[in-house]
Amino acid sequence: MAFTITPFDAPIGAEVSGIDLRVALEKPIIDQIYQAWLDHIVLIFRDQSLSKDEQVAFANQFGDVGIRATPKDEQNEVTNGYDGSIMLVTNQRDEKGNYIGSLQDGEMWFHHDMSYRPEPHKATLLHALELPSTGGNTKFANQYLAYENIPDGIKNRLHGRKVLQAYNFTMLEKVDLEKGLEGIQHQWQPIFVKHPETGKTALYVSRLISAVIEGLEQEESAEILGRLIDIAEDPAVVYEHIWQPGDLAMWDNRCSTHARTDFPAEETRLLRRCTLEGAPMIGAA
Ligand SMILES: [Fe+2]
Repeated sequence: MAFTITPFDAPIGAEVSGIDLRVALEKPIIDQIYQAWLDHIVLIFRDQSLSKDEQVAFANQFGDVGIRATPKDEQNEVTNGYDGSIMLVTNQRDEKGNYIGSLQDGEMWFHHDMSYRPEPHKATLLHALELPSTGGNTKFANQYLAYENIPDGIKNRLHGRKVLQAYNFTMLEKVDLEKGLEGIQHQWQPIFVKHPETGKTALYVSRLISAVIEGLEQEESAEILGRLIDIAEDPAVVYEHIWQPGDLAMWDNRCSTHARTDFPAEETRLLRRCTLEGAPMIGAA
């Protein structure tokens, strides 16, 4: 199978073309795609048409498919037989007017998927099924580059420290620590993580999920976190993906964040997500 990997003219991402993801891949091709994914962080496969089974089977060639963080009885999706491995990202409703998926409408701030869990999932695979006429783009931010852009003074101040990652399934709002963390998924994580496969260091904070820095007064924590988030979202490290139906994006959650732009609420946006299991995050030396 002849396929090509074309890096985007952007700080993150590459397009993979000439490959049908419904077909089981040979080991050398899997290895080549996996290496391209480690190198480019985000891979976009165009013109695919995958069923749930086919999407999960494709993902499974690169690792173990993950189970969702949302408690099963709080999931909107009817995903019989998938044990929580499939999530629909959509504002679509059923005939009774109930949402059939999660993360329904509008803009969403930058975040890492599952950074609030002890073992964040390493990859997310998102397949575009139906899209609005405009907006609903996904911005991907390269967090290796973000790390490089942090001034030395801040790097030294934060070396070896942790950040509290907490998430309550919002899209444009941090967890309010004043109200406490009871019932809210949260995890202390290294601010600077060492990628277990590339060995490179990445910044591991986000606007949506990072709440407070360990060992700093509230004011200094908020000030430094604000500066880190600006660096993490700097347009110089971002690629904005305009989806086409049939796109499948596969990204590395250990060294990138992503965000969604607004889109018309009266139009349907439907994407299908699965993930690959990861391991505890390791702090940079
Ligand atoms: Fe996400």
